[in-house]
Amino acid sequence: MFTMPACSDISGFYKLDWNERLQLLKERCNLSESDIALLKANAPLDFKTADLMIENVIGVFCLPLAIATHFKINNKDYLIPMAIEESSVVAAACKAAKLARKSGGFKAEASEPIMIGQIQIKARKEKHQKIIACIEKHKEELLQLANACDPVLVSFGGGAKSIEIREFNDFIVLHLLVDVRDAMGANAVNTMCEKLGKQIETLCDCEVGLQILSNLAIYRKAKAHAIFAKEAIGEQAVDKVIDAYKFAYADPFRACTHNKGIMNGIDAVAIACGNDFRALEAGAHAYAWFREKTYKPLSKYWKDASGNLHAELEMPLAVGIVGGATKVNPLAKLCLKILGVKSAKELAEVMVSVGLANNFAALYALAMEGIQRGHMKLHAENIAVQAGAKGSEIKEVAKRMIEMQSINEATAKQILAELRGV
Ligand code: MEV
Repeated sequence: MFTMPACSDISGFYKLDWNERLQLLKERCNLSESDIALLKANAPLDFKTADLMIENVIGVFCLPLAIATHFKINNKDYLIPMAIEESSVVAAACKAAKLARKSGGFKAEASEPIMIGQIQIKARKEKHQKIIACIEKHKEELLQLANACDPVLVSFGGGAKSIEIREFNDFIVLHLLVDVRDAMGANAVNTMCEKLGKQIETLCDCEVGLQILSNLAIYRKAKAHAIFAKEAIGEQAVDKVIDAYKFAYADPFRACTHNKGIMNGIDAVAIACGNDFRALEAGAHAYAWFREKTYKPLSKYWKDASGNLHAELEMPLAVGIVGGATKVNPLAKLCLKILGVKSAKELAEVMVSVGLANNFAALYALAMEGIQRGHMKLHAENIAVQAGAKGSEIKEVAKRMIEMQSINEATAKQILAELRGV
């Protein structure tokens, strides 16, 4: 059945109540009654499933799950699930997506899903050539052995593709390059590496050390580009965002926080879609060092001849839509359905675009008005709730606290008392 891509350009989604938001999502993403019931369930992940996922389970931990609107990526509209505890991140992503949309949205591309598995071979320098020659001689046999571990992956066009050798003083590292198709790939790669490790010891008479995937996935990158028109953001903002980027380029202390802003968006989508966000974090920050062998911002900004701002982000993104939590966590499955991605490559293209959106929104806010103003509204509402405000009181108490520039529980209680006439 042909389904129209969800039109994500929805203004005022935040003004709808819970049921209205779900109804809209149901219509645009073709969700079923049971999908909606899952979103409304108190415990969308049952104990039994959780108990199978990790050890010593005592409960299920929840995070708010939201939808980022306005995203157009490669001319397709996406409603993007984000799970995150930090206020303003979802709003920031929406705001940037809305601005980017005015110039056509995000253009994104992801490379083939090639992961690196590492096999450490412990040997002193003088033995290296003999071992390397042995590996070269048996290269095809080793690749075949790796592929025999995962015939399903091979049947989908994936599998071990090649071998690279790197030398250190007291050891050699063999990189097994594996096309993992729509999986994140850690399990497939680790299994292959352990199999190969044993065989290399036998064939090449050497001692094998660690055998494990590398999260510095330099062959599995995604790239997004967007234009923020000077008419949309103002000429001053174009220059100020570029200045903010230059600060990050010059100073690793700033680059780290700059990159954290990128990961705000990427992790939130990763968590919603059941992906390993620690792997993404590790890959991102290592890659931030890798390109210039010093820590740099992952994104870059520049101005074109017409004065418009260009933003680009390139980074490793090892994400999957099959296996792991994407399979067992029903909410992760549902988030992937909402997103409507058909491959891991497409998921990476979406995520790198969200990362760029959050990065731009953070730089824009920091450069133009400071970050606290945006943060304050939700923060004030939280304080109002803590002070006991209910229903319409929450927004009113928050508004008055912001006006008074005094956002704390004592002020909230005082305003609440005034509102209630006590
Ligand atoms: C906060 O979660 C993220 C920012 O610090 C990112 C940045 O400074 O670019 C606002």
